[in-house]
Amino acid sequence: MDLYGDEDYAAQYDQRWASATGRKRDLRKARAITLALQDLQERCGKSFQQVMDLPCGTGRFSHRLASEFPTYFGADLSVQMLAEAKNKIAASSPESDRAHCNFLAADAAKLPFDDQAIDVTLCIRFLHLVRDPQLRIDFVRELARVSRYGVILDYRHDRTLRIWGKRVRHKLGLLELAPANPSQAQIRDEIRAAGLHAQRFIHVHRAPLLSDKMLVVTTPIGA
Ligand SMILES: C[S@@+](CC[C@H](N)C(=O)[O-])C[C@H]1O[C@@H](n2cnc3c(N)ncnc32)[C@H](O)[C@@H]1O
Repeated sequence: MDLYGDEDYAAQYDQRWASATGRKRDLRKARAITLALQDLQERCGKSFQQVMDLPCGTGRFSHRLASEFPTYFGADLSVQMLAEAKNKIAASSPESDRAHCNFLAADAAKLPFDDQAIDVTLCIRFLHLVRDPQLRIDFVRELARVSRYGVILDYRHDRTLRIWGKRVRHKLGLLELAPANPSQAQIRDEIRAAGLHAQRFIHVHRAPLLSDKMLVVTTPIGA
């Protein structure tokens, strides 16, 4: 994941959502996040006061989240990505939103927060970059530790036409790496191993066979 520490890479990262199709993908993800947050708040009967967006990257969702929740934490390992996020918020958000918007450099493996310090954590476009299932579990466990009511996790599942196609290409020797997307059952097991219940799976795309993106609404086991 070293490329996120590159200033030029960070500066052009948002280009992936600049085209008409990119904007649609971005909006679909934003809608799924809104739905997941509503679901979790209703489930817990709470209005969340703090939300952590980890990794926040270049602040793709910072403005939206900072305007919806009293306290927003955008955390990321890369100071280059964080610099883009800070600039974006400074340029686009009113002073009232900026005031409760906090950015911090942090490693998802060891977060600088006490247990249950944050109401909810959102983890978008991160776990699919972690190919080792045990490492994914360790990251999710740390997010669960600091999150009081639950965590919203962006997973990539394996039941799509594209992933099936990749499997076939890998078997035929046309693709070096086999796709690492876990099945929905494996995702549920990973989440449980990290101390969370998978309460709801929200497909980001209306036609799930066309997209592997899925948000999982989770709550702490025993809550
Ligand atoms: C694909 S980007 C996703 C950013 C944002 N959530 C989005 O939707 O655009 C992945 C991010 O993970 C960050 N990252 C990688 N390893 C990390 C770690 N151990 N702790 C925190 N952030 C990490 C990278 O710096 C990068 O900004």
